[in-house]
Amino acid sequence: MTTIAVTAATGQLGRLVVAALLDRGVEPGSIVAAVRTPEKAADLAALGVDVREADYTRPDTLVAALQGVDRVLVISSDQIGDRAASQANVVAAAEQAGVALLAYTSILNADSTAMLLAADHRATEARLRESDLPVVLLRNGWYTENYTGQLATTLEHGLVGASGDGRVQVAPRKDFAEAAAIVLTGDGHEGRTYELAGDDELSMPELATLFADATGREVAYQDVPVPVLAEILAGAGLPAPLNEILADSSAGVGRGELQNGSGDLARLLGRPTTPAVDTVREAAAAVAV
Ligand SMILES: NC(=O)c1ccc[n+]([C@@H]2O[C@H](COP(=O)([O-])OP(=O)(O)OC[C@H]3O[C@@H](n4cnc5c(N)ncnc54)[C@H](OP(=O)(O)O)[C@@H]3O)[C@@H](O)[C@H]2O)c1
Repeated sequence: MTTIAVTAATGQLGRLVVAALLDRGVEPGSIVAAVRTPEKAADLAALGVDVREADYTRPDTLVAALQGVDRVLVISSDQIGDRAASQANVVAAAEQAGVALLAYTSILNADSTAMLLAADHRATEARLRESDLPVVLLRNGWYTENYTGQLATTLEHGLVGASGDGRVQVAPRKDFAEAAAIVLTGDGHEGRTYELAGDDELSMPELATLFADATGREVAYQDVPVPVLAEILAGAGLPAPLNEILADSSAGVGRGELQNGSGDLARLLGRPTTPAVDTVREAAAAVAV
């Protein structure tokens, strides 16, 4: 029996990966939800999933959590700009456990992108290259939910960004989660790097039109310089340097850095990726326009 661990399994992506593993027929008892906050995983424990404490900043918890694990998905933490060292702790624990496969959720075009967001992904990829572990890199592109997640705010204030006419390839989290589950339960993925981008490609003005069509409201796209976007994000409560990193990411979209023609995501899924309009319509239904 292969034991598969998912770190950060209480996060939005992690939960979807656990669900996708269960959908693929993996027994709950063969899944380890390795989480910082076990209380948040009571529902997973109730399903029979093996919930273990695993805090990236506390190596002792990581070593214990990965004991007996064959394959592990390491989901990048949300401590953006400050996660290379803690993610290295997870790699070291996986080495100590001698896992047979480590999959890491990196960023699309990690080799070439100039986005600030990519720096700690590159550091973790470099740490993985130093390791003897069998590794597969899941270089995830942009979630559609990065845009639909704030639809209520967007309807109030408009869509604001620093992406100009640049286009971004998007797919919902569930597509990336399903691809991860396919890799974790499949064979022959060791040593591979997947550039995972949605089939759908949108500019911000096109996205504004999708929002308008789905809600019947007027939605315009306003392009602003990066420092102005950073200030807007700070005003919305994002701490520094996260506001600056996310404003820079919006400019990265403008430079086409979240596009990739590999087709890897659809190929892994064995189907086209979920169209952005579907995710936009779901979000519109949820905000009760
Ligand atoms: N591709 C994209 O468009 C995109 C967009 C946003 C984020 N991301 C990246 O993808 C990851 C997964 O996305 P998501 O939407 O699932 O994010 P999320 O819902 O914010 O979940 C982040 C997870 O990271 C966990 N975490 C944070 N610090 C940790 C630590 N020290 N030790 C262990 N776990 C820790 C959190 O644990 P708790 O539940 O205990 O808080 C949470 O479960 C994010 O963390 C981020 O790196 C990608």
